[in-house]
Amino acid sequence: MRTQIAIIGGGPAGLLLSHMLDLEGVDSIVVERKSKAYVLQRIRAGVLEAGTVDLLRQVGLGERMDREGHPHNGIGIDWQDRPRFLIDTNTFTGKSMMAYGQTAITEDLYAAREKAGGHIIDEADNVTLHDIASDAPYITFEKDGREQRIDCDYIAGCDGYHGVSRHAIPASVQQNFEKVYPFGWLGIMSETPPLPDIVYAYHERGFALASMRNPTLSRYYIQCDLDTKIEDWPDEVFWDELKARFPSEVAAQIVTGPSIEKSIAPLRSFVSEPMRYGRLMLAGDAAHIVPPTGAKGLNLAVSDVFYLSRALTEHYKHDRQTYLDGYSDMALRRVWGAERLSWWLTSLLHRFPDDTPFDLRTRQNQFDHLAASKVAQAALAEEYVGLPFED
Ligand code: APR
Ligand code: PHB
Repeated sequence: MRTQIAIIGGGPAGLLLSHMLDLEGVDSIVVERKSKAYVLQRIRAGVLEAGTVDLLRQVGLGERMDREGHPHNGIGIDWQDRPRFLIDTNTFTGKSMMAYGQTAITEDLYAAREKAGGHIIDEADNVTLHDIASDAPYITFEKDGREQRIDCDYIAGCDGYHGVSRHAIPASVQQNFEKVYPFGWLGIMSETPPLPDIVYAYHERGFALASMRNPTLSRYYIQCDLDTKIEDWPDEVFWDELKARFPSEVAAQIVTGPSIEKSIAPLRSFVSEPMRYGRLMLAGDAAHIVPPTGAKGLNLAVSDVFYLSRALTEHYKHDRQTYLDGYSDMALRRVWGAERLSWWLTSLLHRFPDDTPFDLRTRQNQFDHLAASKVAQAALAEEYVGLPFED
């Protein structure tokens, strides 16, 4: 097979890239390790920045999001017994966010690719990158027991944190930055009406989050120890702990019911530089991970894909290389902004096992400063709603 862009990974980054390139007449093939059914049932975060919402609309993916998504003017923070604080994006930036699950976005992307006759190869084993430093790169993989090969101009590594693409970059040029947090998030999905707002809660028992997918589907999380086992958290125990971490009047509003999904995710900050080597460009989780506090993961995948599709379009349609040459630096500037914000929010809102009395006081003061200072509120709102894409 031959295509212009071989895309490894059919998550949101790979599918969106393929979709946006197709709109500009650039040909691609997506090669995904898992089955379509598996990809479509994965549950991930669900808060879209204003820029993500605009971009999805611009590329024809806004219809269902606007029908089923839940616009938000801000995100609440409940802090022990303090009055609720709102990260008020609308007041400070004039922009709002959208609660719309990544699972739904992936469904929309798959539907759009299939409608346009897009080429997606799923259940591809042993994907391998070849000759990425040459002018004639290619990938090989096994499908139904047969080895196949795709020759291409460029390879887009959109295969997530556990993918192979990043590892094709020689160790001598690659630099990895990592921070691992000493806790995880235990999350549940339940077919119960959510709270009206998305709310983060800081509590001496640990962090908690109330979120939503639609008017009858709620998503909740609690901070947990890294050695936590799901079996130790039957639904009743989860609900009791969740409610204990919110102020009592909020806890009283939480509607409980059987969980339909329960999972534990560790928290990690990770960046791999550069995001381009030769004919390989990385995008999304393949190049960076943020802890979920701040909901930046999917939004960063979208901004990478925006920069990368523009770079490739400029290259193919106008023979301009500036964006392609600058892709890694431009994408990384935005990545590091989100890395810093999500690290900061994680540090602010969680209890750490080694917290000292000094840490507790400064954390408390940080929150009180936020609650009192319009300048601090504006800075947080600007970053939470998402910094603009660079021209
Ligand atoms: N070969 C082919 N495909 C692979 C390989 C491989 N060796 N390894 C992984 N993949 C596939 C995965 O099965 C997955 O479908 O690559 C895809 C990567 O998708 P995601 O992990 O969803 O990453 P990305 O598309 O960058 O989206 C980022 O996902 O983790 C969240 O917070 C993150 O919301 C953000 C979003
Ligand atoms: C979610 O809805 O899953 C969600 C919301 C906000 C976050 C993380 C996850 O910061």
